[in-house]
Amino acid sequence: MKEKQPSDQLKRPVYDQLAERYDRAMQPLERLCLARWRAAALRELPAVGRLLEVGAGTGLNFRHYPPNARGAAVELSFEMLRRAHWKTERPADVALVQARAESLPFADDSFDAALATLVFCSVASPPMAFAELRRVVRAGGRIVLLEHVRPDNLLAPLFDCLNFFTARLFEDHFNRRTALEATTAGLRVLRVERHLLGCVQLIVCEV
Ligand SMILES: C[S@@+](CC[C@H](N)C(=O)[O-])C[C@H]1O[C@@H](n2cnc3c(N)ncnc32)[C@H](O)[C@@H]1O
Repeated sequence: MKEKQPSDQLKRPVYDQLAERYDRAMQPLERLCLARWRAAALRELPAVGRLLEVGAGTGLNFRHYPPNARGAAVELSFEMLRRAHWKTERPADVALVQARAESLPFADDSFDAALATLVFCSVASPPMAFAELRRVVRAGGRIVLLEHVRPDNLLAPLFDCLNFFTARLFEDHFNRRTALEATTAGLRVLRVERHLLGCVQLIVCEV
């Protein structure tokens, strides 16, 4: 008889195992380009208002937040969230909440803007996560994404192959079309800035 698999709800998030090494592993990329791209993503958000970050990880975006930021940073992995809590740059008025992007524990129109960096490659259901963002961010509010995606060029088949392994090993999808998913979910995509031959994109949307 086939062994029973643990349900998705009971499975430990894969980032619980990666949390300890995450900041160290990201350091070379941060130095090369990522810190700059994070800062540019945060500049797309309003300087005031209630901010939601989804999949905040260990809080590597905190140092780019606007001064006096207030709102919430949501993260699925307890171990990632614990490290976010330790960050000295953690904004005092931003609550750290363990939750799934697909099921956000906030009332409708709770935020003026939202941010996600390197998250939509990992979420189990991008359509559900976008639907939740549309629900909790007020009409006219900004949603800014910095994501690695399937490039729209000759590299695309390579990303499809890579995805076969990364999705199984790390639940990280290398061939998501995140800007298209955002449009399909009913968001207005205002701008897409392409980096590294379109493999990384800054996607600026409006509800
Ligand atoms: C590559 S890390 C990025 C972390 C952080 N945003 C950054 O830029 O460093 C992806 C993060 O998304 C989180 N994540 C994955 N699926 C999620 C979901 N459904 N809801 C909330 N967070 C999720 C993971 O636990 C992980 O911390």
